[in-house]
Amino acid sequence: MARGRFITLEGLDGAGKSTHLTWLVETLRARGLTVVQTREPGGTPLGEKLRALLLADPMHLETEALLMFAARREHIAQVIEPALMRGDWVVCDRFTDASFAYQGGGRGLAREKLAVLEEWVQAGLQPDLTLMFDVPTEVARSRVTGMGRELDRFEREKSEFFERVRNEYLARAAASRGRMRTIDASRSLDQIKKSLQEIIATI
Ligand code: TYD
Repeated sequence: MARGRFITLEGLDGAGKSTHLTWLVETLRARGLTVVQTREPGGTPLGEKLRALLLADPMHLETEALLMFAARREHIAQVIEPALMRGDWVVCDRFTDASFAYQGGGRGLAREKLAVLEEWVQAGLQPDLTLMFDVPTEVARSRVTGMGRELDRFEREKSEFFERVRNEYLARAAASRGRMRTIDASRSLDQIKKSLQEIIATI
């Protein structure tokens, strides 16, 4: 049985990731693939409890990073690795690039510390493909604040925080040797779908 593919989606809150995730999963299923759709932080019963804490409770920035990776350890063991071993494809809403972008770029946690956690928790596991939905920070911000729902602890951060998150995502994409594909998500939905079609046709 061939190992499945591991695809992650990234981008600022408000970049439109969720819309494209639904479309991507449907498109892959229409190809006859078995797709496990999941998310981080979360994806397991324990991970979802950690998510609730992470999105609501104030905490030290290192505690935040450690809990993100604790949830990830459980997620890899319980969901991601077994699915890939079965030959299923895994589509995950956020993964470790978000830790580097938010805890590293946004909060200023040393990249070396994150790299230690990445090596420990993932032991070499990396996404085969990461779709990074990029929009100018102001566009993402106005979409999030215009949703009319209560904002979580990350969404309440200032524009400068999101500017640093975005810059980190862009820098990682440039250094990723093709693993991360930056998608200009300020275009129309049809144009974005066309780009996605082209990218997934190659994997
Ligand atoms: P997200 O799935 O975008 O939430 P929503 O359901 O509101 O679309 O992710 C929740 C938040 O978690 C998001 O603001 C980014 C943050 N996050 C990190 O800071 N580090 C991480 O490693 C991950 C996976 C997420």
